[in-house]
Amino acid sequence: MNYRHAFHAGNFADVVKHAVLTRIVEHLKAKEKAFRVIDTHAGRGLYDLTGEEAGRTGEWRDGIARLLDAPLPADAAALLAPYLDAVRAENPDGGVRAYPGSPALVRRLLRRQDRLTAVELHPEDAAALRVRFAGDIQVRVIHLDGWLSLGAHLPPKERRGVVLVDPPFEETGEFGRIVSGLARAHRRWPGGIYALWYPIKDRKAVDGFRKDLQASGIAKILDIELTIRPTSETPRLDGSGMIVVNPPYRLDDELKAILPTLAELLSQASGGGWRVEWLRREQSS
Ligand SMILES: C[S@@+](CC[C@H](N)C(=O)[O-])C[C@H]1O[C@@H](n2cnc3c(N)ncnc32)[C@H](O)[C@@H]1O
Repeated sequence: MNYRHAFHAGNFADVVKHAVLTRIVEHLKAKEKAFRVIDTHAGRGLYDLTGEEAGRTGEWRDGIARLLDAPLPADAAALLAPYLDAVRAENPDGGVRAYPGSPALVRRLLRRQDRLTAVELHPEDAAALRVRFAGDIQVRVIHLDGWLSLGAHLPPKERRGVVLVDPPFEETGEFGRIVSGLARAHRRWPGGIYALWYPIKDRKAVDGFRKDLQASGIAKILDIELTIRPTSETPRLDGSGMIVVNPPYRLDDELKAILPTLAELLSQASGGGWRVEWLRREQSS
């Protein structure tokens, strides 16, 4: 396991992922009934952007730093507020020195009745999560292979919630693992919301992934893409993709309000853009 998220925390891909995740959690909060977030590849929770890893890449400077204090159109500002407020809450003195990864972000958004299961395989990051959430009865930290948790922990007893699948994509075959993991998880819990992150780096692999999802038999699949530059000659992270299965009602419209602003702020060369498209959409009868 070579991948360490500390090098990438708060980059443009995190911004897109966490903005989408926050909107999903906010929709779940529209009903009183408790829900659970299951984060299968959780990372370490909170990242020090002044630390050595983040300092070496500086990726957050072209991510959250471009967004946090930017003037935003009113509709995008309102929709992004829960996410940006959670980032600001980690930076009480202003600026951005710390960035909440998905478990820290989700934890800020939960109500008293809601729960988080954070799964992480790297021993150091799992240990950091345990320390962070020690004594917190709303959070369960599990040191485990996240792909196994898609079988072992579904459906959650709340029967409402979202599963975030955010693997490092450091091994070949990760797209295939996502599709088979999703199919397995969806059989166990067809009503769950699934949010799956994927890199836009190798267009052929992305096209194949989308086709496999369309052939999976799953009825409601929304595909979200934000690119910061046109496709590079040699493979490079040109964009951030998210698949949302069983998206909350009107998430697609909300993202159409948010993504143009994010695309403009996060762009690194002309020719990037955004897209929100249904890969499959159940016909209403
Ligand atoms: C992209 S990072 C996660 C970032 C986090 N979800 C966030 O949004 O802040 C991927 C994480 O998966 C962990 N990981 C790698 N293989 C794993 C596996 N098989 N099961 C669980 N975690 C794994 C890595 O250690 C890393 O922390």
